[in-house]
Amino acid sequence: MANPSILILAGDGIGPEVMAEVKKIIGWYDAKRGITFDVSEDLVGGCAYDKHGTPLHDDTMAKAQDVDCVLLGAVGGPKYDSLDFSVKPERGLLRLRKEMDLYSNLRPAQCFDALADFSSLKKEVVAGLDIVIVRELTSGVYFGEPRGIFTEGNERVGINTQRYTESEIARVARSAFELARRRNNKVCSMEKANVMESGILWRQVVQEIHDKEYPDVELSHMYADAGAMQLCRWPKQFDVIVTDNLFGDLLSDAAAMLTGSLGMLPSASLGAPMANGRPKALYEPVHGSAPDIAGQGKANPIACILSFAMALRYSFDLGEEATRLEQAVEKVLADGVRTADLMGPEGGVPVSTSAMGDAIIAALDASL
Ligand code: IPM
Ligand code: MG
Repeated sequence: MANPSILILAGDGIGPEVMAEVKKIIGWYDAKRGITFDVSEDLVGGCAYDKHGTPLHDDTMAKAQDVDCVLLGAVGGPKYDSLDFSVKPERGLLRLRKEMDLYSNLRPAQCFDALADFSSLKKEVVAGLDIVIVRELTSGVYFGEPRGIFTEGNERVGINTQRYTESEIARVARSAFELARRRNNKVCSMEKANVMESGILWRQVVQEIHDKEYPDVELSHMYADAGAMQLCRWPKQFDVIVTDNLFGDLLSDAAAMLTGSLGMLPSASLGAPMANGRPKALYEPVHGSAPDIAGQGKANPIACILSFAMALRYSFDLGEEATRLEQAVEKVLADGVRTADLMGPEGGVPVSTSAMGDAIIAALDASL
């Protein structure tokens, strides 16, 4: 049987630096655990634009459809700010999400014990936090038509459309309920049903799917603005939050920061099952390309490494190996190894991106 396959799209900014550490870890699994992946690499984002004049070449898109999963670093940078909207680096990522139909984006926000002091919130509010935001990723205002900048009379008007079909809501709701069943069995759905028809439909469909298929799961509904407030007030009240594309974008950044650093958080974007029964999938850190620190060896590779751990769990059925890697990360943090983003006001001497990767490899060795 062929080895499981991974397409690496490291992208721009700190993407290639943090991905280099993931490649070391893939090498470790090959050498020490006999788990061999067929790894190929390609371009996405600004670097793809530089080479091909498009942020995602059709050949790359075809490869992404063909592998067991895609690992993505980050896209974008100031160099590309003035490009036409249609070829901006972000369009490459959005095309991958849309064409692979990755409708369910899992964004865990987990507070590592060693970093509880580091959150901008009080320690007791965040210590032990472990929630997942399930963000709808292929519809809503990100993709709705009509969209564009038009002229009406003597002025311009910018238009985007929030649009959700029943089946789009139903499938992401199911994935949230399924996830909750494997966790603490609680889902909170967030929308703006007080202002938006799409929010009214969202609430109805989530409730219907719950009542018909998941009555055992505890379901609540919240307006997304109140949800943002509750996330800051007492985030531990949540287990799984399910929400639309735009609210999920905002709420997941807020939830991420509760844990102390955006540099820590992975994500999985999952679609329908492929022939092998595993979902179509793309894994990426929640953080961006951080052009201000790119190329300096300062970036924290943990979010990207934990994204690979999610790939082990969801795409390769290697849950135990995923836990091994997550525990290695926890050990390194408990030992006080810190990249610059984890230094805190009291300071200290940060380690480089690659030293963090090496420390995690050492912890993996120690786990054997
Ligand atoms: C994210 C990012 C993207 C988004 C950008 C880079 C297009 O903010 O993954 O959260 O808005 O979805
Ligand atoms: Mg975002």
